[in-house]
Amino acid sequence: MNHLLKLLDCSKDEIINILDLADQLKYEKKHNIPHRHLEGKSLGMIFQKFSTRTRVSFETGMYQLGGQALFLTNHDLQIGRGELVKDTARVLSRYLDGIVIRTYDQAEAETLADCGSIPVINGLTNFAHPCQVLADLMTVREHFAQLEGLKMGFVGDGFNMCNSLIVGCLKVGMKVSVATPEGYEPDAKVLAFAEEMKKQGASFELSHDIHQAADNADVLFTDAWIGMGQEAEAEKRRAAFAGFTVDHDLLSCCKEGVMVQHCLPAHRGEEITDEVLEEHADEIFEESENRLHAQKAVMVMLMSEKSDFHI
Ligand code: CP
Repeated sequence: MNHLLKLLDCSKDEIINILDLADQLKYEKKHNIPHRHLEGKSLGMIFQKFSTRTRVSFETGMYQLGGQALFLTNHDLQIGRGELVKDTARVLSRYLDGIVIRTYDQAEAETLADCGSIPVINGLTNFAHPCQVLADLMTVREHFAQLEGLKMGFVGDGFNMCNSLIVGCLKVGMKVSVATPEGYEPDAKVLAFAEEMKKQGASFELSHDIHQAADNADVLFTDAWIGMGQEAEAEKRRAAFAGFTVDHDLLSCCKEGVMVQHCLPAHRGEEITDEVLEEHADEIFEESENRLHAQKAVMVMLMSEKSDFHI
């Protein structure tokens, strides 16, 4: 594994190795144990969409690992004036040791990886959000001390978060039940993967019924109804997603003690009520914190020269 572009590219062992190193790095951070595995290394951060968590966790994570991060937007790079991604990849590969990219089209992240010679990490595309789901799996495993056999329910848009959750959860042996409004189903490649996994005994359901997704769930996920770049469709989306709110009534269908996760930012009164978010705030903000530890693990594994860190 030379890049982290999507969880479809990762094996179960690779995912578990990242989670194990993330746990170790979290312990070291909490106990002030130095872990400067990327001393002298530079990470370029190409962001074409807004970000709080991804940007700040990558920048501070790189600093804690002894390296530096350069935040680069469309307004800074010649990419914003039409320079090709394949040329940008070849130039940046000569200065940097790794790149994280947040953009719209998954193909852009893949081209950056194909044409450059340094690791590329997907910091969110319209297709996938692998760093978020690694942090999610880390948080769920911390909470339950296991992943295999747990049921993950997802209620909302079959977009990047849903795509990556389906893949990540199925790969680590979780049961997955997804409910989306009609017309907002997950990507066809992800559904094909889920069908293949079902043939090997995995449990996967896709419906338009939020109660089916929540039924007996150990952990319930949701995500924004209106993603970045979808603002023009806001009213249409609010109408389509009406009823897809994680509230107390829906939680009563889940297993007692259900964990609630949200990648944030949250839109209270849309995909989740204020009451549910506040009651599950410890779990949800732990999930945010774990972005830092999970991404540090990914960077160490992809960018460190020490062979014991390689995935
Ligand atoms: N969850 C997430 O990716 O947050 P940001 O958009 O703030 O980075």
